[in-house]
Amino acid sequence: MSEKRPRAYIQPLAVRQRISRPQPKGLPVVNLSFNELPFPPLQSVLNAIQSATTHANLYGNPTCEKLRIAIGSTYQLDPNCIVCGNGTEELLDIIGRCFANDGDEIVISEYGYILFPIIAHRVGARLIKAKEQNYTSHIDNVLAAVTDKTRIVFLANPNNPTGTMVCDAELRRLAVALPPQTVLVLDLAYGEFASNSYIAKVHALAGEFDNVVVTQTFSKAFGLAGLRVGWCYASKWMIPILNAARGMGTVNAAAQAAAIATLDKRDAMLSRVGTIIAEKIRVANSLSLMGIEVIPSETNFLLIAPSPNHCDVADKLASHLFEHAGFVVNQTREAGLERFIRFSISLPEHNTSLLNSVQTFIDNDQTND
Ligand SMILES: Cc1ncc(COP(=O)(O)O)c(C=O)c1O
Repeated sequence: MSEKRPRAYIQPLAVRQRISRPQPKGLPVVNLSFNELPFPPLQSVLNAIQSATTHANLYGNPTCEKLRIAIGSTYQLDPNCIVCGNGTEELLDIIGRCFANDGDEIVISEYGYILFPIIAHRVGARLIKAKEQNYTSHIDNVLAAVTDKTRIVFLANPNNPTGTMVCDAELRRLAVALPPQTVLVLDLAYGEFASNSYIAKVHALAGEFDNVVVTQTFSKAFGLAGLRVGWCYASKWMIPILNAARGMGTVNAAAQAAAIATLDKRDAMLSRVGTIIAEKIRVANSLSLMGIEVIPSETNFLLIAPSPNHCDVADKLASHLFEHAGFVVNQTREAGLERFIRFSISLPEHNTSLLNSVQTFIDNDQTND
């Protein structure tokens, strides 16, 4: 093979290992590692998808006009200040490409969402991590990490993988103190699991500050992860810039129709969110009673540590849950989080089965001591 190859401006990233072996007992595999909603789309949403696919010979609306209007009326926002994308993932990437470049700095919190370092890597920016306190973003540390080279601060609040959040007053303090040349991206992927009033207060920040962008997704509370729809709300001046960097048809027609139909049934979706929150409290309480450390979560997932100091117990628990019950959980293996596993809250029967499996693991572990 020739030694001379085209120069790539993006270098490969290490690929994370996920459980890919067959389930040894032939049990159905339940993937709890992606923070998805366990409920299938409502019938009206399935109907909307089907109706859109009958026109699949035609392009979807490139500006997602009806969807932006529906989002605008749901959240009382100007649809002209909204951009939709192929999941929040596309929008976060666009924001990164629009506002950061080689040699710039991007600030995130210590255990910030995994996509933020990836975006910094893609644009060649230097990633600065601000130390957290109790696995929670620490606004003074974020502010201390900001320099005149900081182009973007990315903050998922609630955050993944920790599940923790800071209050809206802290976000306001951050927005006020940041230099106006630094973009503040507030990722509300799990906002509905926190509260609607919290979401409204964060929207108000984006309305007030020219440098604040809020991102939201249909993948979590609205259960459309497989269709890939996200949106962001930003100041008017930013919209044409974001649109210039965005793919024209990235939100396909079926995804747009599904998202609109989902917003139409927002109350039913929020009632599902209520079910997940109640289940999360039940699971967290049961795990705490088993002596397991549970990080307080404002999301649809839990980050738990089965042992205070032995990382291999987390590995063993993850293997046990897969081999004995078919559950796939997430092991971030991030520095500082090696002793944790993360899993989504699922249907009550799956949650109960997971709790039983954790209890068996603990019982066996004590027998082996
Ligand atoms: C904090 C956070 N932001 C964004 C995303 C991406 O969501 P989407 O499916 O809209 O790309 C995720 C997905 O897990 C997430 O955890």
